[in-house]
Amino acid sequence: MILDGTLSARVADIETLSPTLKRFRFAREDGGRFPVAPPGAHVQVTLRGPERVWRNAYSLVTPPDQRDRYEIIVRRVATSRGGSHFLHDVLKAGDTVELSAPASLFPIASLARRHILIGGGIGLTPFLSYLPALRARGAAFELHQFCAEDEAETFRNLLGDHEGTVEVHGSKDRSPPDLDSVLADRPLGTHVYACGPEGLMDAVAETALRLGWPACSIHRESFAPAAGGKPFDVHLAKSRRTIRVSAAQTLLEALETAGVEPPSLCRGGACGACLMPVLDGEPEHRDHVLSQAEKAAGRMIATCVSRAKSESLVLDL
Ligand code: FES
Repeated sequence: MILDGTLSARVADIETLSPTLKRFRFAREDGGRFPVAPPGAHVQVTLRGPERVWRNAYSLVTPPDQRDRYEIIVRRVATSRGGSHFLHDVLKAGDTVELSAPASLFPIASLARRHILIGGGIGLTPFLSYLPALRARGAAFELHQFCAEDEAETFRNLLGDHEGTVEVHGSKDRSPPDLDSVLADRPLGTHVYACGPEGLMDAVAETALRLGWPACSIHRESFAPAAGGKPFDVHLAKSRRTIRVSAAQTLLEALETAGVEPPSLCRGGACGACLMPVLDGEPEHRDHVLSQAEKAAGRMIATCVSRAKSESLVLDL
């Protein structure tokens, strides 16, 4: 579900959860209520620093019926291109941010008879909004959270006491989780949802398929922060402009910095909202939206994550 509009919000509170995790609570500037956010929804947060603007998508961790505040949990990433550092080190209570309307790209399967949620590290966040919704529905579910041992207590505290349905597996040596024991011998109608590092999500999908699960029962939260890469030029055919995309920028960020406001939603290669037609040049595709045939044709590009293999690209923009 996508709602139009951007909301101005105030940082109501910032809570330190661990050395690298903080929870941010936002309230509407006008004192009103936020739109209903379905379980697994995310918002795009716009942060305006003195020298640049960041727009990042984060899963909401608030229960779907919680409308007086929105909450996100953000990990401070050492290799962050800026967003998480700004949130952790600069943003303070009382500051203003812009929030997009919530969008849901990772919904709960309404016809599932049982739900298995598998989180890896900070990939727990969408499930924090799933859990109250699943409980309210009386749904059969279980959650397996895989993380480093020194973060297990933090995640247990976030999840609360839900004996029998929630397990936190802390690993000392980051050994791969035993997914066979989680996914084997499940009744028909069970759905699995994975969110976390790409490797974990791939392993969940591969294990489930090997064990005979139908592909339609396997779900993953596939948006992830975009990485930088080789700089390149983008020529805009309609407006006859040339914009440089630096090594640290995404194509979408370079367009926005130049005053072009192309559409975007997940900013992580998962939704297709930012797809643009390519007239010339060779894209380097990094999204989960285009098919292999579409990627090979090279006629569309997801500007939020994909880049150029060639020295430049020409967009129909
Ligand atoms: S904004 Fe979702 S794929 Fe680019």
